[in-house]
Amino acid sequence: MNSSGDSGTTATEPQQTDTSTNRRQNYGQGFLGTISTGWAERPAILPEERAQAPYAARRRAALSEAFPGQRLVVPAGSLKQRSNDTDYPFRAHSAFSHLTGWGADSQPDAVLVFEPTDDGHDVTLYFRERADRTTAEFYSDASIGEFWIGPRPDLDGVAGELGIATAHLDDFAAGDDDLVVGEDADLTRVVSEMRLIKDDYEIAQMRLAVEVTADGFDDIVANLPRIIEHPRGERVVEGVFHQRARSDGNAVGYDTIAASGPHACYLHWTRNDGAVLPGDLILIDAGAEVDSLYTADITRTLPVSGTFTDIQRRIYETVREAADAAFAAARPGVTFRTLHETALAVLARRTAEWGLLPVTAEEALDADTGGHHRRYMVHGTSHHLGIDVHDCAQARREMYYDGILQPGMVFTIEPGLYFQIDDTTVPEEYRGIGVRIEDDILMTEDGPVNLSAGIPRTADEVEAWIAGEKPA
Ligand code: GLY
Ligand code: MN
Ligand code: MN
Repeated sequence: MNSSGDSGTTATEPQQTDTSTNRRQNYGQGFLGTISTGWAERPAILPEERAQAPYAARRRAALSEAFPGQRLVVPAGSLKQRSNDTDYPFRAHSAFSHLTGWGADSQPDAVLVFEPTDDGHDVTLYFRERADRTTAEFYSDASIGEFWIGPRPDLDGVAGELGIATAHLDDFAAGDDDLVVGEDADLTRVVSEMRLIKDDYEIAQMRLAVEVTADGFDDIVANLPRIIEHPRGERVVEGVFHQRARSDGNAVGYDTIAASGPHACYLHWTRNDGAVLPGDLILIDAGAEVDSLYTADITRTLPVSGTFTDIQRRIYETVREAADAAFAAARPGVTFRTLHETALAVLARRTAEWGLLPVTAEEALDADTGGHHRRYMVHGTSHHLGIDVHDCAQARREMYYDGILQPGMVFTIEPGLYFQIDDTTVPEEYRGIGVRIEDDILMTEDGPVNLSAGIPRTADEVEAWIAGEKPA
């Protein structure tokens, strides 16, 4: 929320006429004369260092080495207005959180600064420390004042928890030669590529995010009767998942896709204003972001009435076959693009078998003249996953799509088949069916691990899940 505009004055100064508000009475002198007094001392308890602190320190050391002699600025970002005096919930820039270890409780406008020294950098985290109780901000600033949004952390506390030197934001000054994440292409690329391989802390956070997400999917299945009953059942799905993400995590990592019936063919359907009707499939793509800001990204497609029809099952199991083939092909040393190529080869073969393609599977798979099967899956099969749902988005293609799978990488495998309701190239029984199965995969030296394997995946498992018999 925007401030009422009088922060910075002291409580004992006569109050300025506040022209920004027509709904508040001015504070009287009795209030102004006493509001700064009568407060207990804040206990000086220094918190313990957080578990992520040594990991973030190693990331900062790596970044320092990549940019010797240059001043680097990594902003957390600012609050963004939603409307009038309401803002979107604050969520720090991923590079900032990755390099500081400061997650859901990061402060808006904070900046991490790497000041070059003779043998590296001095790193300082600047943020707006808790205001003194003698300031008007304390009681009257609805945007950042303690009376309104609660206390902000203090410099020593954050320094102790994160293991970084801290200073007040007022002491930060931008320099002409600063390299700023978001503005400088090289720096932005490097902080993105640094995240391609996850450390042990990050992997543990990914497991946690998947766990919360799995609970959210269980909640959805448990609530299917009221989801079906409601005229906007898709919204109920979204709300049920959101409740889990907020109670057990920080938020959803991206807007939940609750796409029932033909909506499943719209890849990022987040309007979620449709009914969930028995006989249809519902595609749910959802991920909980935990307090460290790491997120899962998982899709399951469920038969609303509890059992797949023959055609739904055929399509579903083909998508699963494609996902399983990509998983089987994944191992350290193969290219990332192998995942996509392997999944698509299955889909081309099956759609050709079903008579949906005007050419053979081999012809469809020709890189230049083919691609006919892509009509039914226009998206990619895999993306890196981590502190961003589409993590490492600024990495070079040779590090990403053309890069090599390595232990510590976390990525999705998410093939799908989508037959639009008005696609006259397919028999009528296919139309309006969309299926995606998306799992979160950790690459290890011994091969891939499906972090989301505990969420029912096969058609039989999914039916048992809805029947209340989730496999152990
Ligand atoms: N939820 C977006 C994606 O699967 O990439
Ligand atoms: Mn995804
Ligand atoms: Mn997804």
